[in-house]
Order: sequence, then C-alpha cells, then structure tokens
Amino acid sequence: MIKVAFYDAKGYDKPSFEKYGQLHDMQFRYLETKLNEDTAELARGCDVVCVFVNDTVNAKVIDRLYDLGIRLIALRSAGYNNVDVHAAFGKIHVVHVPAYSPYAVAEHAMALLLTSIRRIHKAYNRTRDFNFSLNGLTGFDLHGKTAGVIGTGKIGRIFIDICKGFGMKVIAYDLFPVPDSGIEYVPLEELFSRSDVISLHCPLTEETRHMINADSIAKMKKGVVIINTSRGGLIDAEALLEGIKARKVGAACLDVYEEEADIFFEDRSGHILNDELLSRLISMPNVIITSHQAFLTEEALNNIAETTVNNILSYFNNDGVCDNELCYRCGHIDRCKKERKERCF
Ligand code: NAI
Repeated sequence: MIKVAFYDAKGYDKPSFEKYGQLHDMQFRYLETKLNEDTAELARGCDVVCVFVNDTVNAKVIDRLYDLGIRLIALRSAGYNNVDVHAAFGKIHVVHVPAYSPYAVAEHAMALLLTSIRRIHKAYNRTRDFNFSLNGLTGFDLHGKTAGVIGTGKIGRIFIDICKGFGMKVIAYDLFPVPDSGIEYVPLEELFSRSDVISLHCPLTEETRHMINADSIAKMKKGVVIINTSRGGLIDAEALLEGIKARKVGAACLDVYEEEADIFFEDRSGHILNDELLSRLISMPNVIITSHQAFLTEEALNNIAETTVNNILSYFNNDGVCDNELCYRCGHIDRCKKERKERCF
C-alpha cells in the first residue's frame, strides 16, 4: 500500500481522492496543516507527500522530507512556483497536474469580469434587501471592447475564445507565441495601452513578478479592468490600490493575492484581518475578490485526483517515468532526460 501525506487538506478534496485512491490501494493521511519546516515531520512513515499551492516546499523542507525517506512530491496543482525545483533535483522527484480543467479557470475569469462590470454583486445584495433601485448599477458592453490576454497557454486560449464569443477584439502577449493560432500578438507595452480589459494567464516567474506595477498601470487606458486568476505575485497590489484610488483602474477582479498563503481557503470571518492592503482592496466598490476559487469545479476536482493518483502510480510502477514530472531542466530539450522518456534525474 502506498501511503501519502496529504497537506492542506480541505473537505472538498477528500471525496475525489478517496474514490481514486481506493481503486489503487493508496492510503491518504489528511493533514489540515500546510507543509512547512515545522510540519514536514508529520509525513514520517509515508512514501509520498501531496501538496497544494500555498504549501512551502523550499530547500529546508525538501531536505527534511528527504531525511524522512520521501522520494516523491505530488503537486495537486498546475503552478509550482512554491516548489524549489532546483533544491529538489537529485533528491526528490516532483510531479504536478499540468491541466485539470482550464475551462474552470477561464470561465471563472469571465464570471468575475461580468459580475464586476454589470454590478451583479451589488444587485444581488440590493434585491435581497428589497431594494430595487438601479442607481449606480450602470455597466458597459463587452461587445466591441478590446481584451488583452497575457499568457496564451491552455487557460489563456480558452479565455480568448470566450471573449470572442462576446464579440470582443482580442490582442495577446506571450513570451512564446503559439504559431498559426490566429491570435494577434502585440508587444506588452502595446497591450497595456490598447486594452479595455487585461487578463493574466501566465505563470509567476522572476520575470513576471509584479508585471502589473505603477509603470505598467500608467500606460493603461483610464478605466481598464484588470483580471488576475493566475498568481497573486504578478500584481504589485500596492500599485493596483493606488491605480484604483486615482480612478485610473476601473475595476479589479482578483482570484489570487500575493500574500494569500495564510488567508485564502480559510474562514477568517470571526477575526480581524491583519492585512491592511487586502482590507483596503476588499473595501473598494470596484474590486471583486474570490479566494483562489477559479479551479473549483466538480470536473476539475475529479481530474486533479485522477491525475495525481496516476502520477504517483507511474512513479512506483513505471520505473519512475512520469510524463508529469518536472524539474528546472524541463523544456530544455538537450538537458532534460524526460525528452528521452526517462526520469528527470
Ligand atoms: P500554460 O503553461 O498552459 O500557459 C502559460 C503561458 O504563459 C504559456 O503560453 C507560456 O508561454 C506563457 N508565459 C510564460 N512566461 C511568460 C512571460 N514572461 N510573459 C508572458 N507569457 C509567459 O498554463 P495554464 O494552464 O494556462 O495556467 C496559467 C496559470 O494559471 C498557471 O501558471 C497558474 O499560475 C494559474 N492557475 C490558477 C488557478 C486558479 O485556481 N486560480 C488554477 C490553475 C492555474
């Protein structure tokens, strides 16, 4: 039986993981705590550690897990910016779920956009209070507006299709444009200056950290709507708040926040929020925040559990070869052994 220490477990994780785990004699030790240097010890006796987006998988944590005999970290997410893949190389293999439902995230981005610009969140609260006034609820048509999409991978491309369905013009920026995709790629500066709506769908890297900052906001159209369903660190939240206060940014739709790790996914309703910036953003009438919810559909949860269980099985049953393994060399064809259908190391 393969034993898996399952960190940051939430009630919604268990049904799907139990379903696929039981099929393959896999046992999950559900831990509500996040993985960090202090909690790594809780994985003692397990073969695998399964982590999510706000678990800390830095060099120290990796060393502790390695000392406990852990040789596989199974991310149940696509993004892996929280894992020090350099530190893991040569010690612990890392697998992830590259795609579980890009539709879930792209559809959530559009849901946030529509809610924001048509003031649905305000109307919902009003009519529950039998307030049927329309004052202050004026929105704008998406039809004919320009959407600027940063990152045209799986999620970005679906978001582009959704925008086109609304009759929007779409321009995009990607470090690696998709050839023959029919997507109109423009330089980043041009995207900033031409877009009515900007949606972020690129990963968080050193290069993309704070790509939305005071300088880039200054280049944007007055009234621009900024959507972030990717990673909080893409936006300098202080600069965003200033842009909102200056009436430059018309609205912000955020599913992620740079300092979300100890806040999002938890019920903090009975507590005082010790994050002034987040409190200010939430207090703004033109900011909508969801708590890293974009992935949360039935389809996505099933796919996450199925792929994670299969990733673990391939490590143990397939000589450790797994298509979803990742390392810092992946993508460099000459350097990563995975391109030759071998393990990364
Ligand atoms: P993907 O890997 O299919 O696409 C990412 C795209 O970003 C690629 O086309 C890549 O070339 C591009 N890119 C890389 N560096 C760039 C740069 N410096 N500037 C512009 N573009 C760059 O990833 P996918 O599946 O579309 O996911 C996108 C992001 O969505 C993930 O990185 C993850 O952080 C986030 N995500 C958020 C979820 C949520 O629940 N809020 C759930 C799943 C993913």
